[in-house]
Amino acid sequence: MGVNWPSEPPVLSDGVVSLRTPDVSDIDDITAGAQDPDVQKFTMVPRPYLRVHAEGFVEAHNAGAWGMVAPRLGHEGAQPRLNAAFVITGLNDDFRGVIGLHDVDPHNATGEVGYWLGPHARGVGSMSRALGLVLAWAFDVAGLTSVHWNAAQENVASWLVAQRHGFVVDGVTTCGRPGDVPLEAWAATLTRERFGASAG
Ligand SMILES: CC(C)(COP(=O)(O)OP(=O)(O)OC[C@H]1O[C@@H](n2cnc3c(N)ncnc32)[C@H](O)[C@@H]1OP(=O)(O)O)[C@@H](O)C(=O)NCCC(=O)NCCS
Repeated sequence: MGVNWPSEPPVLSDGVVSLRTPDVSDIDDITAGAQDPDVQKFTMVPRPYLRVHAEGFVEAHNAGAWGMVAPRLGHEGAQPRLNAAFVITGLNDDFRGVIGLHDVDPHNATGEVGYWLGPHARGVGSMSRALGLVLAWAFDVAGLTSVHWNAAQENVASWLVAQRHGFVVDGVTTCGRPGDVPLEAWAATLTRERFGASAG
C-alpha cells in the first residue's frame, strides 16, 4: 500500500470555491489572514506572523515545489513525508484561506489535514466545501487510506466542519504551542471507506 501522488498539483473546484497551490500573489493575503487571533490560537502558524513567514510558506508549497518531500516541522530527522497545501479562493480568485494535507506517510498512505479561513470568509460554508474537495482528492486520487484531524475542543466550528465529512473522534489530546497553556483537544480520523459511505 502506498500513495499515488500526482506529479502535477491539482486545481480543485466545486463551482463555488477553488483550491490551487499558493503563489507570490497570495503573500499579502496570507500574511493578513494569519494575524487573526483565532488563527493564531488554533493553528500552529508562527507567532508573531511576519510577511517573511508567508514568503517561506509560498516558497515551500508553490506549484514548482510540488512533490518535494518536506520533513515534518520539528521532526526534521524523521521519515520523509509529503505535503499538499492549497489556497482557498472564490471563483474570482479572491483569497479566503488555506487548507493543507500534511505529514502524509507515503507508505502507510495516511495524512493529517489542517485549515484556516480569513475572518472575512467565515460563516458561509467555504471550509466545508474546501475540506470536501481535499478529502475527495486525498482518497480518490492520492490513494490515502485515512486522514487525521485534531483541534481544540472549544473550536466548535472546526469540529462541525470535520464532522460533516464523517470524521470520528478517536481520542482526547492537547494542542497549542510549546510554552502556551495546552488546550484540551479532540483527535479524529476519517477512513476512505467512511468518506465513501458518507458521500454516497
Ligand atoms: C474553523 C473555521 C475554518 C470554520 O470555518 P467557518 O466558516 O467559520 O465555519 P462555519 O461558520 O461554517 O461554522 C461551521 C458550523 O459551526 C457552527 N458554529 C460556529 N461557531 C459555533 C459555536 N461557537 N457554537 C456552536 N456552533 C458554532 C456554525 O453555525 C456552522 O454550523 P452549520 O454548518 O450547521 O451552519 C474558521 O472558523 C477558522 O478559520 N477559524 C480559525 C482557524 C481555525 O480554527 N482553524 C482550524 C484549526 S483545527
